[in-house]
Amino acid sequence: MAASQPGTSSTSSTSSTSSTSSSAPKTLIDSLSAALSRREAKSARRRLTVLPRTAVDFSSNDFLSLSTSSAYRERFLALLNNTPPSFPLASGGSRLLDGNSAYAEELENFVAEFHQAPTALLFNSGYDANVGVLSSIPQPGDVILYDELIHASAHEGMRLSRAGPRKMFAHSSPIGLREVLQSQIAEDPAIVEGTRNVFVLIESIYSMDGDVAPIKEFIAVVDELLPHGNGYFYVDEAHATGVFGPRGAGVVQELGVQDRMFIRVHTFGKALASHGAMVLCGPETRDYLINYARSLIYTTALGFPFLASIRAAYELLSSGETESLQRRLQELIRHLRQQLDGLHTYQSVMFEVDHFPTSPIISLRTSQPRQLASLCQENGFVVRAIMPPTIPEGKERVRVCLHAGNTEGEIDGLTRMIQSWLDQSHRNESKL
Ligand SMILES: Cc1ncc(COP(=O)(O)O)c(C=O)c1O
Repeated sequence: MAASQPGTSSTSSTSSTSSTSSSAPKTLIDSLSAALSRREAKSARRRLTVLPRTAVDFSSNDFLSLSTSSAYRERFLALLNNTPPSFPLASGGSRLLDGNSAYAEELENFVAEFHQAPTALLFNSGYDANVGVLSSIPQPGDVILYDELIHASAHEGMRLSRAGPRKMFAHSSPIGLREVLQSQIAEDPAIVEGTRNVFVLIESIYSMDGDVAPIKEFIAVVDELLPHGNGYFYVDEAHATGVFGPRGAGVVQELGVQDRMFIRVHTFGKALASHGAMVLCGPETRDYLINYARSLIYTTALGFPFLASIRAAYELLSSGETESLQRRLQELIRHLRQQLDGLHTYQSVMFEVDHFPTSPIISLRTSQPRQLASLCQENGFVVRAIMPPTIPEGKERVRVCLHAGNTEGEIDGLTRMIQSWLDQSHRNESKL
């Protein structure tokens, strides 16, 4: 699930229920139903869906198709079977109590080494990692500057943090970062003196737009404006993990700027077909998180099957076995792009393809995303309509995700379906 935009989160929409109005809901359930009805009226009500297993996946974040890979399954099962029968399956508690193990610590070391980071700390999910780190690391009064499309979990962490100003900058815009940083510098001399910390929050690939962040350009802005080294980068690599960089190590390592990142977050629920996340950081930061990150301290640690599945995925990455999947994914991205470029479009039907060249996430921008997504789904292709509040008003789209396990034939079938929707929409418009 993607970012809720600031001010349009799911919680804010319930606040308009007036307790004094004569038509006010009577009970809690009335209030909940009224909130749902308001969402329904805006065509924004979320629902759980179960799709047929035969449907072609153009939606999940299983970018390398590892979740159905026999190599991954075999390695995972071997790791499970190679432990003695008495080896506990459950962690039995939080990391700080009974939930730690030599296996978990070895896994952290393995992942830290793979990512060329000083240390790694395992969280139960990317959500927990972002909430735990951002709620605890920025110190009172520190400044947080965040990309406008940052994930909802980062917003949650910022909301809980003791930081001072939290300012948004235009999406993936070094100029936007420069402007907002300059205005903070003008307000607070401690920033230029180097005594106030400034955190810059970005993702390396954005979940909805699928674009890769201009990380080097951001570094140049921070180096120029904060010469005392009090600028700290926080980069969430959720969508890049396994897909981008050397052996899937991420965009930061592709650019060779790992030493410039204060914190990197890699999540395992997407291309790594598992669950959980690692925070890559220095030893003092890791120690601090063990002491202060509440989403780490007050939760049961991941059990052995999850640790083994993360280990299996990282063994595949580090042995280079997933590189062919990375390459195959890029071939399919190029194929889909060609097919989309060949579509016959019409003046009367708003339709645009938004795509960063090497990204497996492609946006089909239209004012009728639900209709397009429904037609594709009815014909066995899983794609999702993405609506506000997940993305800003006016940015509605159908999100298409490619996977190493997709085929050219499936892509051609999907593009035929998009063409038939365009033709049908054009005919409908012409009749009006
Ligand atoms: C950029 C980003 N960060 C963090 C998360 C949360 O990770 P997890 O699903 O492991 O909680 C997600 C998506 O779920 C995401 O897209």
